Amino acid sequence: MAQKKFWQDSGGNRPPGSVPHGLMGPGGRKTRAEHARPVPGDGKEIFVELQDATKQYVMGETTVNALAGVSISVHKGDFMVIVGPSGSGKSTLMHIMGTLDHPTSGKVFFDGSDISVLDDWHLAMLRRNKIGFIFQNFNLIPTLSALENVLAPTEPLTGNKERLEERAIELLRKVGLGNRLLHKPDELSGGQRQRVSIARALINDPEIIFADEPTGNLDSMTGRQVIELMHRLNKVDGKTFVLVTHDQSLLDYATRKVFLLDGSITRIENQGAKGGGEHELSV
Ligand SMILES: Nc1ncnc2c1ncn2[C@@H]1O[C@H](COP(=O)(O)OP(=O)(O)OP(=O)(O)O)[C@@H](O)[C@H]1O
Ligand SMILES: [Mg+2]
Repeated sequence: MAQKKFWQDSGGNRPPGSVPHGLMGPGGRKTRAEHARPVPGDGKEIFVELQDATKQYVMGETTVNALAGVSISVHKGDFMVIVGPSGSGKSTLMHIMGTLDHPTSGKVFFDGSDISVLDDWHLAMLRRNKIGFIFQNFNLIPTLSALENVLAPTEPLTGNKERLEERAIELLRKVGLGNRLLHKPDELSGGQRQRVSIARALINDPEIIFADEPTGNLDSMTGRQVIELMHRLNKVDGKTFVLVTHDQSLLDYATRKVFLLDGSITRIENQGAKGGGEHELSV
C-alpha cells in the first residue's frame, strides 16, 4: 500500500496543498499561508516560514531569551546553512523550524499550514511524512544493525515490509554502506554512523532535512565527505536542507547563509547560481 500522505491521514482525498478539517482559520478562512506561492524574483516556493518567533526559557527567577524575534523563510530546494557561536540559539531555531518545538510567541508556517493549529497527532504525521532529522551525536539505537536503524522511522509498519527493506538497503548503498548492513553502531566509524543517520533521515522520502551540527563529531575529512553527500542529495535529488553549525567552512555549500547571534539573525546572504553573494539583510 502506498504510504499515506499527511493530508490523507486527516481524512478524505484532499489534494495536496488543501487544508484538512480543523486547520481552518476563524470564520472558515483557510490558514494556509498566503505566502505559499512562488516568490517573485527566484520562483521558489516558501516551505517553512517563521514570523517574529521568540523562545524564552524560564528557569526560576531567570528568563533566557534563546530566540529574540526571528523572521526567516526556507524555500524549496534551499541548502540553508545557519551559523552562530555556542548558545546563539541555533538548535532552538532548528527545533522550531522542524516543528519539534513551539515558539513562545510568533508564527510558524510549514508548507503553508500554521502549525499552532495542528494537534500532536497531525504534527507527528507531518514530521513522519515530510521531515528528516540528522543530529550531531547520530541518535542511532545501539542494539540495532545499520539496516534496522534505517528502518526504525517506518515503525509501526504501514507499508510493504520487503519493499521498505529494499529501499533501506538502496539508501545504505547510496551513502556508501552497502557492505555494512548488519553492523551495529559501535562496529562503525563516526563518519559511517552519520551516514547511517542520513539514510535513516531519508527512509520516508522527506522533502526537507534538518541537520544540527551534522559534522560536529567528525574529523575534518570525514565531515567534508558527509557534507558533500548532503550537498549531492540537495543538487541531484532536490531535497531541501537546513543545517545549523558553528563551523563556518560549511557556508561554502550554502545557497542561503544565515548568521545568528544572541538569538537574533544579524545577516542573511543569498548565493547566486554563479557563486555571487546577494546581500539581503543586515541588522
Ligand atoms: N531547555 C532549555 N532550558 C533552558 N535554557 C535553554 C534550554 N535550551 C536552550 N537553552 C538556552 O538557550 C540558549 C540557546 O541554546 P541553543 O541550544 O539553541 O544554542 P546553540 O546555538 O545550539 O548552541 P551550541 O552551539 O552550543 O549547540 C542558550 O543560552 C541555552 O543555555
Ligand atoms: Mg546546538
